[in-house]
Amino acid sequence: MEHKLALIGFGTVGQGLCEILLSKKELLRKEYGFEPRVVAVSDMLKGSVYDPDGLELEKLLELAKAGRSLEELDGVKEKGWDALTTIANCGADTVCELSYTDIKTGQPATDHCRAALGQGMNIVTSNKGPAALFYRELQELAAKNHARFMIEGTVMSGTPVLNLVRNTLAGNEISAIRGILNGTTNFILSQMETGREYEEVLAEAQKLGYAEADPTADVEGLDALAKVTILANVLMGENLTPDDIPCRGITRITLDDINQARNEGKRWKLIGEIRREGGKVHAEVAPMMIPLEHPLAGVMGATNALTFSCDLMGDVTINGPGAGRIETGYSILTDLLEIHRGKEG
Ligand code: HSE
Repeated sequence: MEHKLALIGFGTVGQGLCEILLSKKELLRKEYGFEPRVVAVSDMLKGSVYDPDGLELEKLLELAKAGRSLEELDGVKEKGWDALTTIANCGADTVCELSYTDIKTGQPATDHCRAALGQGMNIVTSNKGPAALFYRELQELAAKNHARFMIEGTVMSGTPVLNLVRNTLAGNEISAIRGILNGTTNFILSQMETGREYEEVLAEAQKLGYAEADPTADVEGLDALAKVTILANVLMGENLTPDDIPCRGITRITLDDINQARNEGKRWKLIGEIRREGGKVHAEVAPMMIPLEHPLAGVMGATNALTFSCDLMGDVTINGPGAGRIETGYSILTDLLEIHRGKEG
């Protein structure tokens, strides 16, 4: 079945998604009957193109990689539409909102989501802004317009978390979710154990592409805070905002702290946690000393991990990539396939 897509934003995630759509084209058609057609791409910096017959993804990727404007693509129907004009006129089934994350305001991504959902188009996004700040509103808008608001990639990129709990662990009640939700800080803490200084390792995390454009969001815990808010709201039925949750990052952790933890058989980790206790939910992001024998203590480098405490299954832990071009592109594909299965079903 054909599925028309519009991509708002053509940075690393949009390009990663297109690489996957090209390399998996036959498999997606044969195994799942999923035939995506990208009809519009609109990026604030790289330009905007629209063609109802579908855009040539190889050429778009070539242009983006060469730092050239997408509007150099020949033979398309329209050029130069901004994001909201694209959403209003492209006629896509699903809008992939892949613009930059602003954790404090959620904009401009939230307005893109409102416009698409208000028109009955599905939204798939890995953008933490709208999901952390306006989940309830956007979910209700989607339901009212018979559309889907899908956000798997906002937590641990394509490592299944939200869909895992909703689909595969369905029937369990979750009393706690606890884990490592930020790759940059876990990489920094891991490297500091080898004696390297904080500033030097942060610079390397930026070079390796784990860190947010403004790494303050990583090291002050705001990125993990956005993910904790999303987990509480999506999986535990809460209606929290990041302001409701105490948050401390890793900026005050010194090499002495790291060595002291080692002497006590422990290791520092930036932990995001949500617990249901006595009918109330407590959430927090903070550096914590974890005993070395705990499963989360062995998660090193940029890897993320989450433990779900389930009433029927006990503790279930998943670990995997929490960032990356292909990994986050893949999170968009998993949500697209979920929408596709729903349409077919
Ligand atoms: N900056 C984030 C991290 C990227 O380091 O985990 C994924 O949200």
